[in-house]
Amino acid sequence: MNIQTIIEKKRDKKELNNEEIKYFVKEYVNGNIQDYHAAALVMAIYLNGMTDKETTILTLEMAKSGEILDLSKIRGTVVDKHSTGGVGDKITLILMPIIASLGIPVAKMSGRGLGFTGGTIDKLESIPGFKTDVAMKKFIANVQNIGISLIGQTANLAPADKKLYALRDAIGCVESMPLIASSVMSKKIAAGAEKIVLDVTVGNGAFMKTEEDAIKLANIMKNIGNLANRETVCVLTNMEEPVGYAVGNSLEVKEAVEALKGNMQEDVKEIVLTIGSYIVKLAGIGNNIEENKSMILENISNGKAYKKFLELVVNQGGDITFIEDLEKFEKAKYILPIISDKSGYVKVLEAERIGRESVALGAGRIRKEDSIDKSVGFILNKKIGSKVERGCILGYVHANDEEKGKLAIEEVKKAYEIVEEKVDMPKYILEII
Ligand code: URA
Repeated sequence: MNIQTIIEKKRDKKELNNEEIKYFVKEYVNGNIQDYHAAALVMAIYLNGMTDKETTILTLEMAKSGEILDLSKIRGTVVDKHSTGGVGDKITLILMPIIASLGIPVAKMSGRGLGFTGGTIDKLESIPGFKTDVAMKKFIANVQNIGISLIGQTANLAPADKKLYALRDAIGCVESMPLIASSVMSKKIAAGAEKIVLDVTVGNGAFMKTEEDAIKLANIMKNIGNLANRETVCVLTNMEEPVGYAVGNSLEVKEAVEALKGNMQEDVKEIVLTIGSYIVKLAGIGNNIEENKSMILENISNGKAYKKFLELVVNQGGDITFIEDLEKFEKAKYILPIISDKSGYVKVLEAERIGRESVALGAGRIRKEDSIDKSVGFILNKKIGSKVERGCILGYVHANDEEKGKLAIEEVKKAYEIVEEKVDMPKYILEII
């Protein structure tokens, strides 16, 4: 078998068999297949797709490319959560401490920014001292001791995904159903949780632009989960506009801390409550979704969720004085207002444009080896459905380079469409699968 024939077969829209997919995953991880060959195959998959059978084989081979975690030493049912990506998506930062505060163990591996979307690990690392590179033994011990650990993907967990994720990001092959499904589910299977809740994002700022595609992706991932004996629930969420009001690493951490203290925007609240109540249900703590939502709200208002977040930060080496006093986070040099040229109602706020602009400001990576600027991004005061007056402030650009900041103002203005007729608030939860 050789990689050229496999590439040619996919280039010619033929179905790859078990042996071919196995060979590719194994030899790419071992370093026997070069990045340029892998890139050609990934591009062919991106352009020509994969059958459900090929996607399932690819996922299971990627999951087996490293260690499969054994979480059996952890008491209670671990329910994992993953998002297919978005802009301003700080749901994990808010939701997982809430879940841990309810006594449900949280052992979660998260990713870095991908394409125009942000990543939980980059956000957590904007807390000075917070370590996301944690050895497996310590990861499990953290969960046993305080009920929660949030870490980055370790070298030996689905290493095929680690390599393919960075490669896809570098060659413009992120938005592909089989590649997203295999990436998400290989990591989730390898991470060992018995139950999984997936936030499948839909819309302008998501990789799936239509509800139809998101449903297809959700069904592929759910079927793979079932085959691997992992009960999987998918919550389809609206990603037409950024989630919440902050976009950018430390800006999102600050919003998450505020949310844990009960100051949550409507979209954040609805997503947190819905995904959270399904996690509670799968953990076997409560069958009634509405009662589960009340349990979550209770642990926000009694301060237990916020306290759990502080415990998580201390336990992973972070400086909690930054969480206790959010003003301590370093601010960007230029905080520039974005002024509305029109009166009316916000009809569109293109999340993808905001995401790309936040990468341009330095909040994300253009090359995989780039470092990121933790303080830059956006604060958006006006979202879809908001009433605006000409001359009002739509939001702020946080930039460390004045020229980039000024360019960002123009781009954000283009992301807004303001119309005269009243616009209804969007639906944030689209479907449960
Ligand atoms: N999240 C992942 O883990 N992988 C993808 O491909 C997209 C989102």
